[in-house]
Parts: sequence; C-alpha cells; structure tokens
Amino acid sequence: MTSAADPLTLVLVGPMGAGKTSVGRRVARTLGVAFIDTDKRIAAVHGPIPVIFSEHGEAHFRALEREAVATALDEGGVVSLGGGAVTDAATRELLRTHQVVYLTVSAEAVADRITGGGRPLLAGDDPVQRWRQIFEQRRGLYEEVASATFDTSRRPMQRIADDIAAWRREQR
Ligand code: S3P
Repeated sequence: MTSAADPLTLVLVGPMGAGKTSVGRRVARTLGVAFIDTDKRIAAVHGPIPVIFSEHGEAHFRALEREAVATALDEGGVVSLGGGAVTDAATRELLRTHQVVYLTVSAEAVADRITGGGRPLLAGDDPVQRWRQIFEQRRGLYEEVASATFDTSRRPMQRIADDIAAWRREQR
C-alpha cells in the first residue's frame, strides 16, 4: 500500500476524453503503485454519474468528487480525476501539495473518444462543440494546477504512460 507520503503519488487531470483513465492505469502499473479513478469510486458508492447530475445537480456531484479526491490522495498512488474536478476551488487546493500531470488532447482527436454517452455535460446534438466550449472555460484551471503537461492526441497510450512514469521517477 502506498501513502500520500510516497514520492510516486501522482494526479492526472485534463478534459473529458484526454485519456486520464487509460493512461493512469498504465502509469500505475509501470510505477508499481495503486490506481484510483475518482469517477469510478463515486459511481460505485452513489450510482451512475448521469443520474447523480440529473437527480441532485452538478454542485452535489462536485462535493462528492472533492471527498473522493481527498480520500484518494490520502491513500496514494496514481489518481485520475474527472474532467471538471479542477473547477472546484477546494479540490484545487487539495492538489497543491501533489505532482499533477495535465493531459491535453485536440478537438479532432477527442471526437472519436467522446461518443457513446455517459457524460452528462456533453449530452446534446454536438458533443464536440460542447467539449470545446467547456475546455475553453477550464483550460486556465488545468494550467494552474499542472506540474507537467503531456499531449495524448497522436501517440499510443502506453508510450505516453511510459513518458509520464519516467518523468515522475525523475521528480523523486
Ligand atoms: C466531467 C467529466 C467526467 C465526469 C463527469 C463530469 C466534467 O469525467 O467526472 O461526467 O465535468 O468534465 P471524465 O473526464 O473522465 O469524462
């Protein structure tokens, strides 16, 4: 078991479809630490995210997310956050003492990744246009919390994960 004191604890942030879960799982495996996806934790305890949004609203989801992030950071390992976690000031504060990797992705590359639903904020006729708007609103926040940035648009997830793991080891 790792802990927040473990120098390999690492947080992944970035917009929806940036690959936070796929890359995070691979980075954790490479570093030999636990992997936590806060969206999955929230859904396991409170039910599907679209239902949380529709029944209780986004503010309630952000409160559940803040709690899940705090718990995950206490446990340590690689922690992938949902795309909107950085919009919550208290969640950003929790990140201040950790290494945070910002995963970027182009709108062209994200188009194939965000089909299939499950993301209440992208529901509607033009999910890519909606994604662009949301990303523009949040990009400054991702930049604010980031210790390093990696783009996931064109390279295989495993290669990106290898680069992140190598970067993380250099930070020790
Ligand atoms: C959200 C992103 C989702 C999930 C929820 C809200 C957002 O996570 O937390 O639907 O506000 O960007 P992913 O970034 O993993 O899709």
